[in-house]
Amino acid sequence: MKLSDIKNIGVAGGGAMGFGIAINFALWGYPTVVFDLNDTILEKSAQRVKKGLDIFITEGLISRKRADETFNRLTFTSDITRLADNDYITEAIVERLTDKQELFNTLDALCPPQTIIASNTSGFVMSDIGKGVKRQDKVVLTHYFSPPHFVPGVEVAKGPGTTDETFNLTYDLLKQVKKIPVRVLKECPGYLLNTIQAALGSVAIRLWAEGVASAEDIDLGVRTSFGFRHPHEGPMMHADLSGAWKRPKDLLAARAKRNVQMPGLSEEARERLYTRLADGRTWFVDPDNIDEIIEIRDREAIRRLKELYWGRVD
Ligand SMILES: NC(=O)c1ccc[n+]([C@@H]2O[C@H](COP(=O)([O-])OP(=O)(O)OC[C@H]3O[C@@H](n4cnc5c(N)ncnc54)[C@H](O)[C@@H]3O)[C@@H](O)[C@H]2O)c1
Repeated sequence: MKLSDIKNIGVAGGGAMGFGIAINFALWGYPTVVFDLNDTILEKSAQRVKKGLDIFITEGLISRKRADETFNRLTFTSDITRLADNDYITEAIVERLTDKQELFNTLDALCPPQTIIASNTSGFVMSDIGKGVKRQDKVVLTHYFSPPHFVPGVEVAKGPGTTDETFNLTYDLLKQVKKIPVRVLKECPGYLLNTIQAALGSVAIRLWAEGVASAEDIDLGVRTSFGFRHPHEGPMMHADLSGAWKRPKDLLAARAKRNVQMPGLSEEARERLYTRLADGRTWFVDPDNIDEIIEIRDREAIRRLKELYWGRVD
């Protein structure tokens, strides 16, 4: 199967995630069927789509014509057999394992063998959800972030039987609809980014519970300090740009002190980490380009500073 063979999309579950996932596919030209339990829920889903598209228009992102075309590519149905005609289906129903398993088994029986079935689960792995399906090669996880019609990043993760072809097609399809797919290399409950996000969230709540700061100040601090930098750099690039990799001994000592923050790190993973840190290399930034990248980062950050906080200073 090639990317061009994917012509029709199905979305199971038109709730907070499904409606936005459907917008995204339809916006970039794919006829998309949204399946949910009954007409009342589907009507609400259609209203959410309309509102989402209206905001795109009023923010100048798309034209009214484009919004109308997008809406007209969507079909809302409570008839599950309408999903069977699609080449690629994303499941975004309630986060209950038995419901997801049942839906996967039903879709497996209904759809032709080439159909790829993806799950947007937050926390289960494909070994759980897809346990009973015959098409082990054609199931995959795609984890969107809310609101999914405009947050670009989507995690893509394999199940035990997912082929490279399915994984790569899913990756390419997401790029086709202007998402930014991120590969997760092994089954990991909670995925990669959800795990990072959850770690930040739980430490924030712990610090609030310990009386370290108010809820408002925790949010203010995150948004205006390291969060302010995040549109341009994540933790790995930040480490590269900071130059810490040039001092592997200091880095190892600091990491050793912070081991307490990595409970449960296996011996194998610790060994891998220490060996890598001791190498004295960057994570991925070309050391010869660091000055140039810092300047690009700084210029972008100053544009954000102007737009969000300072305005123009005369
Ligand atoms: N909300 C988030 O921020 C977020 C982010 C990433 C992933 N997820 C995951 O996406 C999935 C959907 O989450 P949500 O927030 O959209 O939930 P939601 O409750 O808003 O929507 C779920 C929809 O699925 C429908 N549904 C339930 N059982 C169904 C079934 N058997 N067949 C068809 N439709 C069914 C419900 O009627 C509802 O409209 C969950 O697995 C969730 O963990 C959520």
